[in-house]
Amino acid sequence: MLLTTAIDYTNGAPHIGHAYEKIFADVLARYIRLRGDECYFLTGVDQHGQKVQQTAEAEGIHPATFAAKKTKLFLNLWKKTGVDYDGWAETTDDRHKACVQQILTSLREKGELYKKGYKGHYSVRQEQFLTDRDRNEDGSFGPEWGEVVEIEEENWYFRLSAHAAWLKNYVSSREDSVIPAFRRNELLGAVDRAGEQDLCISRPKERLRWGIEIPFDPEFVTYVWFDALINYVSFAGYLAADDAGLPDFDKLWPADGSPTPLHIIGKDILVPAHGIYWLCMLHAMGFPDEQLPRLLVHGWWNIRGEKMSKSLGNVVDPDQLADRFGPDAVRYYLARDIVTGKDSDFDPERLVMLYNQELANELGNLCNRALNMTGRFCGGVVTTTHEPEAQDTALRESLAKATADYREAMDRFDPSAALKAINDHVTHCNGYAERNKPWELAKDAAKKARLETVLAHMVESLAHLTVLLSPVLPEPAARLAHQLRMDNLLSLKLDDLAWGLIPDGHATGKPKPVFPRIVIEEE
Ligand code: MSP
Repeated sequence: MLLTTAIDYTNGAPHIGHAYEKIFADVLARYIRLRGDECYFLTGVDQHGQKVQQTAEAEGIHPATFAAKKTKLFLNLWKKTGVDYDGWAETTDDRHKACVQQILTSLREKGELYKKGYKGHYSVRQEQFLTDRDRNEDGSFGPEWGEVVEIEEENWYFRLSAHAAWLKNYVSSREDSVIPAFRRNELLGAVDRAGEQDLCISRPKERLRWGIEIPFDPEFVTYVWFDALINYVSFAGYLAADDAGLPDFDKLWPADGSPTPLHIIGKDILVPAHGIYWLCMLHAMGFPDEQLPRLLVHGWWNIRGEKMSKSLGNVVDPDQLADRFGPDAVRYYLARDIVTGKDSDFDPERLVMLYNQELANELGNLCNRALNMTGRFCGGVVTTTHEPEAQDTALRESLAKATADYREAMDRFDPSAALKAINDHVTHCNGYAERNKPWELAKDAAKKARLETVLAHMVESLAHLTVLLSPVLPEPAARLAHQLRMDNLLSLKLDDLAWGLIPDGHATGKPKPVFPRIVIEEE
């Protein structure tokens, strides 16, 4: 299955919203593979457009140099935070340019494009013409549009309106066209916009040079969104030569009823970019409905209820955050503290609190106790042959429930609920240890069998939890597997998670803290 994210603008540095989306996608990709399914994870950067040209000009450098410099920041961040993609999309890539140009040529041949003159208001910031719908009640254009200028020029247009009726029917009839459901309703409320006017897909070179040339009219470049959206097919091998080093398109965009691509995007780019332009573009390109992608829409991270913005000076830098608290704490927090589709407030104090409480204290404590006592009291050897008591059966049931809940949550793209399911079992295990007190059992030789059973249940739980945690925290999971002397855990699939992963007589390793507590120095 193809899993994509939005490609990030290279007109600035990555912020926490970019990091969330890529980490979210990385978690899902790893989970899909854990479930035993194939997943091709594509992400990248959106390097063209007016903003990049303008910011580069302000710095006195070529837009290509500027975009390459910013691209590096994204590449470094994904490396630092363990975002492990299979395909990397850069819109300046020649293979992408060739694909965009072939699509433009073929759409023109089909009569989907035409040229006309137009006079109207244009938002420099949003790089688009504005309509009366974009005006405030008093007739003015709001600050979100930035500088608005009146221009008159000829351009190429895509017959968006010709696809409006189809779009409405498609979105209303396909339940998983947009996930979650309330975001689909949002699109349904806006689909009529597609019928209002056609989409301007070119910019004259005298105004914007930093884009992909229109192949049949070299005085124009392609509108940045038209270019960027195509990354989802160009880097999946659409219209590519066999030796282009790109994947097999038919496999990633199947039309045979198997899961279609999943585009992970933020709420701001559902309407009109993905929900209207992209779906209509694909339809115009001749894609049948069964082949169309699903749009998985996430909410935004805000700061105390307010949008993050450069002007408010409240933008959170994920790179600094990872340096300060460690990449694991950042991954955990971003996966844990947001409900998919909804907004959340970014709060570094919650990051520290959730990490310290759920990982350093609860899970860390369980690891430490289970491995430490197995080492001290049983020579590191796990014995699994004694009859379980009611408490042991209850622990096994708790684990089975946690695994089922985790699976159900991940299948509906909700890592936060999946992590809560994991934590429920961790809490159960720590309670089990408190009730059974293996440290007391160890003092009485007659209770050896009971001691071994209790520790075996804790160690077995740890093995399962390691696997379940691996999509969110792959590195700590590898360290846990290693301490358990069960490196093979990380090649298991979800269906392999039945009781009895740890064989009788297995020797575990020594515990080393996997989740060191974050200590904040008083400022
Ligand atoms: N380049 C376009 C996308 C083209 S996709 C063919 C773009 N880039 S962006 O850099 O502005 O945003 C990239 C992604 O980050 C988008 O999905 C956007 O919704 C997401 N986020 C931007 N700010 C965000 C938050 N504050 N919180 C969560 N995600 C946010 O749009």
